[in-house]
Amino acid sequence: MLNPDVIRPHFPALKRTLNGKPLVYFDGPGGTQVTQQCIDGYVRYFSTCNANNHGAFVTSQESDLVNDDGHLVMADFLNARSPKEIIWGQNMTSLAFPLSRSLGRLLNPGDEIILTALDHDANFSPWRIMAEERGVKVHTVDVNLKDCTLVVDDFEKYLGPRTRFVAVGGVSNAVGTINPIKQIIGMAKAAGALTFIDAVALAPHMSIDVQDWDCDFLGCSTYKFWGPHNGIIYGKESVLETLPAYKVRPSDNALPGRFETGTQSIESMAGVIGTMDYLVSLEPHVTPASDGRTYRSARAASLHRVMDAIQLHEQGFSKHLLEGLAANKKVTVYGITDQTKLGQRVPTIALRVASESPRETAERLGNQGICVWDGNYYAINLTEKLGVEDSGGMVRIGLVHYNTHEEIDRFLNAL
Ligand SMILES: Cc1ncc(COP(=O)(O)O)c(C=O)c1O
Repeated sequence: MLNPDVIRPHFPALKRTLNGKPLVYFDGPGGTQVTQQCIDGYVRYFSTCNANNHGAFVTSQESDLVNDDGHLVMADFLNARSPKEIIWGQNMTSLAFPLSRSLGRLLNPGDEIILTALDHDANFSPWRIMAEERGVKVHTVDVNLKDCTLVVDDFEKYLGPRTRFVAVGGVSNAVGTINPIKQIIGMAKAAGALTFIDAVALAPHMSIDVQDWDCDFLGCSTYKFWGPHNGIIYGKESVLETLPAYKVRPSDNALPGRFETGTQSIESMAGVIGTMDYLVSLEPHVTPASDGRTYRSARAASLHRVMDAIQLHEQGFSKHLLEGLAANKKVTVYGITDQTKLGQRVPTIALRVASESPRETAERLGNQGICVWDGNYYAINLTEKLGVEDSGGMVRIGLVHYNTHEEIDRFLNAL
């Protein structure tokens, strides 16, 4: 178990109140609060070495160091082989579109790609539009509507000699399902297809090991795991080397600069380094079992041990929430509710309250200082399939490790 007294003081926003009560941030899947270390990183960067990269003067040289560590720290977080495999950018969506354009250059009419109906549209439309432009056929893996899990057999059904690319989410941002990505990556590789994992909704809840998973690409967004509004794409070096990049002259052909356009937010890198320092600082407070994996660095090992402990800790949140919601006969929960399957979901829970629209429920909770999302959160294929798109979607209750069981009780009472 993680101790909230150790965790919560690191997040200044958790002290915010509404009508004399602390705000309850159950809006994590839309973006999390940031650590004091992240804020300190920004302040330090802006007040000491704000400059563009690659100059012959001290502030620029110090900015180069921040840039280097910004890539290294994300290589550690994802256990990538090299910082060359880490592409920083504005957000995951803005990185996926140019990547789709680069990948599209490798595809020919008649080739096929596989997407899923469970995904956020950022892991659907970039590839679908690229496919349309290139005359490539799109297969869409279906969802079991009973528990919002993927129909994994569909991958077998659609994979074939023309499959060139498979994009799948690690975790559903809408209903919290953890997808069997290692199995899916294995199936895609056996068919010779490249794989893209959307780990945006996974990264705040579990450790990511791109070497163990052996995916070709993976996307995540630092604002979902206690950092600034930025995105990262991991690309396997051997695959990135084969991709054309869309760049201005004089082109920087070395990785990762080849896929990073314009000036990066170096201050954001300083912020993310701060948040990663926070995660490492939790290590003495967690007692995860050794997983037998090897990591690229001591920092990577610490980050993965802490994220493993966070995943385990959060299963307690899912259990508590699902038990409480099951006792409320007015509530319909979408997604995995089976208490024996807590390892297959994160505490992102979608629901509707009878006779109330999702916006009305969210407003009622919001007025009581409980921040939750309503709508489709861009998981639009799913809300359409569930038949809730035209009536306001679902209410999304999304916890991360800084939330507490007391907050869950307050939410259940308010609901
Ligand atoms: C699963 C998932 N994928 C992609 C995105 C898009 O991320 P970004 O805002 O970094 O483009 C989100 C954002 O909510 C998401 O939850």
